[in-house]
Amino acid sequence: MRQIILSGYEQNPVLHDVAIPEPTGSEVLVRIAAAALNPLDVKLQRGQVHAYFPLEFPSPMGTDVAGTVEKVGSPTMRWRVGDRVMARLDPTGGGAFAEYAIVSEDQLVLVPDGLDFNSAAGLPTAAATAWQALVETADLQPSQTVLVHAGAGGVGSFAIQFARGLGARVIATASGDGVEIARELGADQVIDYRSEDFASMVSDIDVVLDTIGGEVQQRSFGVLRGGGKLLSTVSPPDQALAAAHKVDGAFVFHTSSARRLSDVVKAMSGQGHSVLIDRVLPMTSFAEAFERQASGRARGKIILSV
Ligand SMILES: NC(=O)c1ccc[n+]([C@@H]2O[C@H](COP(=O)([O-])OP(=O)(O)OC[C@H]3O[C@@H](n4cnc5c(N)ncnc54)[C@H](OP(=O)(O)O)[C@@H]3O)[C@@H](O)[C@H]2O)c1
Repeated sequence: MRQIILSGYEQNPVLHDVAIPEPTGSEVLVRIAAAALNPLDVKLQRGQVHAYFPLEFPSPMGTDVAGTVEKVGSPTMRWRVGDRVMARLDPTGGGAFAEYAIVSEDQLVLVPDGLDFNSAAGLPTAAATAWQALVETADLQPSQTVLVHAGAGGVGSFAIQFARGLGARVIATASGDGVEIARELGADQVIDYRSEDFASMVSDIDVVLDTIGGEVQQRSFGVLRGGGKLLSTVSPPDQALAAAHKVDGAFVFHTSSARRLSDVVKAMSGQGHSVLIDRVLPMTSFAEAFERQASGRARGKIILSV
């Protein structure tokens, strides 16, 4: 089978021919139909997250997959050959950018009939992170207002929809065509961050979802109401700044969870949310997909069609 493999930090990911793995025990062999890229793939390739996810080379790449069950490790498990499934693979082990992957049975989630594989592949990291931040960590309420940075990005495009689904008021930042995209996803107000200064335009925000970090994160403290929450997917918020503004600041470290991914899938179908897809490319165009992800300009998810 073909698989994208990294030979070392900062090396170009390369398509290799490798043996199809055999599932044993509680493992399932999934025939991959689609996989999604994430900024994490770029950070892993650059060695920027070595402290959390140390890679051993050669290292198969990719975390987010959707496909069908090809083989089961044990006939007693609940998965059957032909089941449509999705999963988030461990970032250290990778293996999503391939024709087949071994997945532990308890990490698999059923792909409902109405969800195509490209869209399903877009969910495991980005949508589940938005969910973990807004629903589980912030406990966002219908009466509240949330500021979503990078509303046209992978995490932000889901965050806007989930927040609206909860009944909250949503303000998003974006630029260029991203402004209209964020509006169409359900944002009540979109701030074009290239021509407008969010920090002087909004105040009394209940929750900020920071997907940018740095100066954007620091300036976001000032738009919160007292007791508000700044959640960052990029870096742990400065606790001294949080205390000075009398707000909470927390880092959201997304952990793979089949239960959370099932909740996400339910919300997607129950509330009619959609997966914003930047582009779909074949595995042979992986370099282009990776470059697009590394650009930081994607509108939603970059999908590999396998
Ligand atoms: N901690 C965790 O567990 C976790 C989980 C998931 C993601 N993350 C991290 O969260 C970050 C966001 O992830 P993602 O998947 O959403 O990234 P992404 O899809 O690559 O985000 C791209 C979007 O960011 C927008 N953008 C860039 N700079 C901006 C700015 N200053 N203000 C507003 N929008 C801006 C771009 O719009 P323009 O082209 O218009 O600028 C683009 O639409 C990444 O750093 C990722 O690694 C962390």
